[in-house]
Amino acid sequence: MKTVAEVLKSATTRLEAGGIENPRLDAEILLAHVLGWRRLTLYVDAEKILPLESILRFNELVNRRLKKIPVAYLTGTKEFMGLTFAVNENVLIPRPDTEILTEFVGEFLRSRGGGNLLDLGAGSGAICISILKFVKSARAIAVDISAEALEVAKFNAEKFHVDDRIEFFCGDLFMPLTGKFDAIVSNPPYIPTGELENLQAEVQSEPQLALDGGIDGLKFYRRIISDAPKFLISGGLLAVEVGINQAAAVKNLFEAASFIDVEIIKDLAGLERVVAGRK
Ligand SMILES: C[S@@+](CC[C@H](N)C(=O)[O-])C[C@H]1O[C@@H](n2cnc3c(N)ncnc32)[C@H](O)[C@@H]1O
Repeated sequence: MKTVAEVLKSATTRLEAGGIENPRLDAEILLAHVLGWRRLTLYVDAEKILPLESILRFNELVNRRLKKIPVAYLTGTKEFMGLTFAVNENVLIPRPDTEILTEFVGEFLRSRGGGNLLDLGAGSGAICISILKFVKSARAIAVDISAEALEVAKFNAEKFHVDDRIEFFCGDLFMPLTGKFDAIVSNPPYIPTGELENLQAEVQSEPQLALDGGIDGLKFYRRIISDAPKFLISGGLLAVEVGINQAAAVKNLFEAASFIDVEIIKDLAGLERVVAGRK
């Protein structure tokens, strides 16, 4: 017979010994997930005795976490823009950093009273679905080369009731598309191939397809920026997330492709996160 507090304490010790970065936090998220509770309740009901079945399920998740499987894959969910997205091993886990890009493009469409959005490499659909959720008059096309990823995005579109304003295409960037858009957004794979093997074990369990940006990490930017003008209305926006130290090179690509008002957007910590320009 073990209490919530006891179960959490021993799991935290095991996770810490296994080299997990935030052992207490991960233990809390996993236990709250198993019990269907909010994390706060773990403190309110700390002395409650847990059923054996819950403890066994929790221990199984802790064992998988010790194999460096990300918490979001274990719970099947990740918070993004205040929404709880479904995720699985076929999609990149949406990052808080990507909220900067999402807010920027959402604000652009909102200021124009809506419009057509294209999300290249949509993954879980985190970017385009959040934008549709917050800009009611917008519509979107979500493209991904992974059919499995698009299944997750479709599930999320239904979950957030935007499925009547979004279409999905499986294919290589612009390949499946015709027509013009008010805004194109992309968080493409941007890790240089040679750096993939040095990534944290957790990141390595995310799809290689979502990470590998080619030899210098800029492969997708070159293709997206050179083809985007054909798919943008005049004055339309292209905005992409960039990795560390990529903003200047990506800005050059925008300017070489004759985009105007090209800007680099930083996050609150002063890191360059987004490059955007208008046709
Ligand atoms: C970095 S993830 C971004 C996922 C999601 N947009 C987000 O921000 O969380 C990049 C996505 O691009 C997709 N992708 C990779 N190569 C692609 C290609 N040639 N055409 C379309 N999508 C591609 C991957 O499957 C992956 O879902």
